Amino acid sequence: MSGKSATLTYDNRVIELPVHGGTIGPEVIDISTLYRDSGAFTYDPGFTSTASCESDITFIDGDEGTLLYRGYPIDQLAEHGDFLETCYLLLYGELPTPAEKKDFDDRVTYHTMLHEQMSRFYTGFRRDAHPMAIMVGVVGCLSAFYHDSTDISDPHQRMVASLRMIAKMPTIAAWAYKYSIGQPFVYPQNDLDYASNFLRMCFAVPCEEFKVNPVFARAVDRIFILHADHEQNASTSTVRLAGSSGANPFACIAAGIACLWGPAHGGANEAALNMLSEIGSVDRIPEYVNRAKDRDDPFRLMGFGHRVYKNYDPRAKIMQKTCHEVLGELGMNDDPLLEVAIELEKIALNDEYFVEKKLYPNIDFYSGITLKALGFPTTMFTVLFALARTVGWIAQWKEMIEDPRQKIGRPRQLYTGQTQRDYVPLSMRS
Ligand code: SDX
Repeated sequence: MSGKSATLTYDNRVIELPVHGGTIGPEVIDISTLYRDSGAFTYDPGFTSTASCESDITFIDGDEGTLLYRGYPIDQLAEHGDFLETCYLLLYGELPTPAEKKDFDDRVTYHTMLHEQMSRFYTGFRRDAHPMAIMVGVVGCLSAFYHDSTDISDPHQRMVASLRMIAKMPTIAAWAYKYSIGQPFVYPQNDLDYASNFLRMCFAVPCEEFKVNPVFARAVDRIFILHADHEQNASTSTVRLAGSSGANPFACIAAGIACLWGPAHGGANEAALNMLSEIGSVDRIPEYVNRAKDRDDPFRLMGFGHRVYKNYDPRAKIMQKTCHEVLGELGMNDDPLLEVAIELEKIALNDEYFVEKKLYPNIDFYSGITLKALGFPTTMFTVLFALARTVGWIAQWKEMIEDPRQKIGRPRQLYTGQTQRDYVPLSMRS
């Protein structure tokens, strides 16, 4: 509590609202008593000025372009750690000791298999179903198979559900890919690290030995770290709202996956790659930049702009470095898509429209090129985002459930519809 307050004058009434300060970042004006004291709601479509909760997990400074997971800068975690270490950090709040890391890695490793009957759940989908549609369905049905970890009032069951989600998402994602290409499912292998296991389940075939390329495994692990959490974004807010009703964690994560799918959010990596492919060559960039600036044209530069970052998305810088590493390993540094992306970034960052609106590349701008080079089809890009973001959703869900002040989220509205009127019988309507 900061002891400060804000004064609102409304309808000849003076209303004092308490102000709360956090450890870093903007203070908040607590309006929880406003409706009681004024009879009016606040109005903030898109929640551009609204803090929905208190959280200790992730901090973003949009002006500085910094991102902290439990206080640690994303670039240090991506450089020195691995994804399961980041999962431990997000879930427990501290970096693990060597013993804690080994125990956590083992606990995740021994939850990677799916109930065998779930493999038959996939066969209900068309082969050309979008993998995100499959993922929403399969994750939603987890509560039918793992009912013993759906009692959210039991801390042990909450942790088991968390581990199961983190552990099983790579298997669910890989099987969605295998199903879409008509290849047999590959089972997890316990002697592989998290990213290597995922790559093997995606790209191994039964008829030959599969060797994981360590450069690709490191790149995928780093991509997972970059996507792990991001404060109260749309899909995380969806998970929190679903969880506030007491829904089981698997259903909440399925809701988050559905929200992430949108092209304005996690679907932007797939849309960004499709945009770069459509532009095709450097000489066509000005045409698309002009379309992005035309208010009458709905086209936007996918992978550009962000509600919070009004500076370079720190994840995009690391993503670009990872992209160069992967393309270098493949001898593809002259990839035409990368050439278009680098030139498009240069042009946009020097164009007054983008400068004035503070539009910079976000995490989705370079991720698509990297994932395509790794062998993933564009339809799998958001699936990988959802795989990585699951730990963030789970950590935020746990934080909400364990908050004694937690209550069901139920926003109100500004009503602009009809005033009350009486029913007109059908016979009297012309
Ligand atoms: C993610 O919230 C998170 O943290 C999300 C995320 C995470 O990790 O969870 O970071 C992941 O979703 C990244 C964002 C991926 N989306 C895209 O790359 C899609 C393209 N970007 C835009 O759709 C847009 O920038 C948003 C959705 C990301 C942000 O939209 P805002 O904050 O609502 O901003 P806005 O739409 O009000 O735009 C402000 C102005 C508008 O112009 P004016 O109406 O003021 O004249 O900037 C323009 C917009 O038209 N603008 C763009 C643009 N993005 C915004 N113009 C051209 N191209 C763009 N990409």
